Amino acid sequence: MSSHEVVLIPGDGIGPEVSRAVQRILEAAQAPVSWNEQQAGIAALDSGDELLPESTVEAIKRTKLALKGPCTTPVGEGFASVNVQMRKQLNLYAAVRPIRSLAGVPTRFDDVNLIIIRENTEGLYSGVENQVTDDAVMSMKVATHSGCRRISEWAFRFAAQQDRQKITVFHKANIMKLTDGLFLRCARAAHESHQDINYQEVIIDAGCMKLVQDPTAFDVLLLENLYGDVVSDLAAGLVGGLGVVPGANFGEDMAVFEAVHGSAPDIAGKGLANPLALLMSAKMMLRHIANTRDDEAAGTAADRIQAAYDKALIEDQKTGDLGGGLSTEAFADAVIERL
Ligand code: NAI
Repeated sequence: MSSHEVVLIPGDGIGPEVSRAVQRILEAAQAPVSWNEQQAGIAALDSGDELLPESTVEAIKRTKLALKGPCTTPVGEGFASVNVQMRKQLNLYAAVRPIRSLAGVPTRFDDVNLIIIRENTEGLYSGVENQVTDDAVMSMKVATHSGCRRISEWAFRFAAQQDRQKITVFHKANIMKLTDGLFLRCARAAHESHQDINYQEVIIDAGCMKLVQDPTAFDVLLLENLYGDVVSDLAAGLVGGLGVVPGANFGEDMAVFEAVHGSAPDIAGKGLANPLALLMSAKMMLRHIANTRDDEAAGTAADRIQAAYDKALIEDQKTGDLGGGLSTEAFADAVIERL
């Protein structure tokens, strides 16, 4: 059986715990992948390297695929976020976060089925910050026509491929007339060539209220960088929290799969972390391999993994964040038993 080389970045905090659990499950599911382990984040600094080592970036450029655990960025001065750096250096401009209700995870709504598409390289994450006067500091929000156009066109293409009915842009163009205004103009232009998909614009503050009142009113959300970051966690809260929301970052010819959650220092090293969000991200990766490299074995492994974790959850095999009592490893065992 041929296998696909995937860069694995275990990351920091709970990263190594959830990565190990996911590796075990993929191996048991006979997923056709071989791991090339690389470092990033505090783990890289501790081994005497940069926060984002050149060797890690080069490995992803070569394999075109990575599964990434969360990386800690030290707060305050001196460090650019490893995640922001990686997304920029690899031009991973489109983040996709499916937000779906799970049968075994009861929440206020049982029929949430949203996809969040987040622009990953611009906006307030430009990293341009200045001390303007003794009194004032400034962060620069950057939007380019090329950046707004490519994410808008990508989002409509993706929505069409996935048979989605509607794209909603959350924005604040009433205040940020130039940056969010440009984002809206590009989204409207992309809609021109996809008239079969409905298109809606909602000011983000009211949008957040509507989202928590009735998430079924939305289908695909298209958001600039900061809004996408914040709304992803908000939407995670609708389906059971950060332990159950996966993600993928796409560029032109490469993809890095990672959970929405961070390194969770409050629970790191205690065996409490839910590995499901990274497992679901790995499942997305297998589907991506199946679709883009025409590999049936990858699709089969993805289906088996999804069926196994759905069954585990329905049979109340859960980690603490979902109200269960299993450790990270015990949940992985429960999934493996049901493969
Ligand atoms: P966080 O997502 O790490 O944690 C928020 C809350 O959710 C915590 O109470 C945590 O225990 C819980 N949680 C997160 N993932 C969980 C899981 N798998 N199972 C059970 N509970 C889980 O966000 P926080 O605390 O704001 O950030 C911590 C660090 O993570 C920061 O250094 C931040 O920069 C980094 N970060 C990295 C990301 C990435 O690598 N993609 C994304 C977000 C944050």
